[in-house]
Amino acid sequence: MTTEWKDRAAALADTLIDQDKLFSPEWIAAVRETPRHVLVPQFYEQEPGTGEWREVTSSGDGLQRIYSNTGLFTKIGPDPLWGYTVGLSSTSTPGLMTRMLEALDVHDGHRVLGIGTGTGYNAALLCHRLGEQHVVSVDVEADLVELARGRLAELGYRPTLAAVDGAGGFPDAAPYDRTIATCAVPRVPWAWIDQVRDSGLVLVDVKRAISAGNLVLLRRNGDYAEGRFDSSWGSFMPLRTRDTQHVQPPDRDRTSTKPRTSSIGYLRPWENTVAWFLAALTMPQNVVFGFTPDPDTGQPGDVFLYAPDGSWAEIANQPEDGHFLVWEGGPHRLWSHVEQARTLYKQAGQPGWGRLGLSATPQRQWIWIDDPRGTLTWEI
Ligand SMILES: C[S@@+](CC[C@H](N)C(=O)[O-])C[C@H]1O[C@@H](n2cnc3c(N)ncnc32)[C@H](O)[C@@H]1O
Repeated sequence: MTTEWKDRAAALADTLIDQDKLFSPEWIAAVRETPRHVLVPQFYEQEPGTGEWREVTSSGDGLQRIYSNTGLFTKIGPDPLWGYTVGLSSTSTPGLMTRMLEALDVHDGHRVLGIGTGTGYNAALLCHRLGEQHVVSVDVEADLVELARGRLAELGYRPTLAAVDGAGGFPDAAPYDRTIATCAVPRVPWAWIDQVRDSGLVLVDVKRAISAGNLVLLRRNGDYAEGRFDSSWGSFMPLRTRDTQHVQPPDRDRTSTKPRTSSIGYLRPWENTVAWFLAALTMPQNVVFGFTPDPDTGQPGDVFLYAPDGSWAEIANQPEDGHFLVWEGGPHRLWSHVEQARTLYKQAGQPGWGRLGLSATPQRQWIWIDDPRGTLTWEI
């Protein structure tokens, strides 16, 4: 293991270079010279079929995975909103992290705040590039912060780490030149913008529901920040807030409602993340989607959606006379939002992410297509 990891880290860097996710010499050196297995000695994965979680260690068959371009769950527990077991922390996909670090446009002497320390791998890359005295990183999970502190120290790094709710940033060590969040928010906390210097950058995944969001790079200009979404796509687990109330998924009782028909019957959010994002901008936050397994084949069947406020929709997988049956219940007609967003998306010329942007002031925040002062805008 003493030197074996170096070959693996170098191979990981080569993979990321080949995939255009890593190109500057400083970040290439950081990936090559950071022993990821020290920061990620174990992780969790779900058994295919049963969905059972199992622990995998770097001393077992995990080492190859730890040095691959894969995100790995490192802490699991109940989802604060829905209660089922989810990943509460992970080491993000290295290629996503290096893409973000490249986009962050750091220069020698810059101070960087990271929201979501996790394993400390991102913090280690930043320490390698900028020096530990320029790196601050926070996580809401105190145990993770202490583990990361110890493991980073093994690598010779002592950045400023704190166990706090990152929604407030970390004013004690502000101002920063850059803030990078590796957890997703439905709206960018103004504190993150306020704690970067004028013309500083904030890079964050703005997400309204599963897969309904993307990375946006904001530049501060006084009491205003603006930026475009990343033309490719990236996604993080949500930032957890302490006041989240646990809710039960609604009872989706088709017999309680009369079905209507829709010309849209498929929802594969990951196949069209922009249209799904536009739909999620008008829906209640944290909508869940999924597929009811077909009783005969076990394959994904009818689509379902539900929201924390009790709204739900089910959409037949197969059309009848070219139309799909839709059942909806609760306070919001969720499928109507998908239909309206699809129409608007087509009218706007099927924009890619690069045409979307976000603007923020201390009072307001809005998403736009093409022009922050244009007509296609959504307050968030
Ligand atoms: C995808 S992981 C970060 C991975 C990390 N960049 C790494 O290199 O390992 C997201 C992290 O965000 C943290 N997080 C969630 N809610 C938070 C909050 N309110 N404040 C700070 N961190 C939070 C989670 O505990 C988790 O460790």
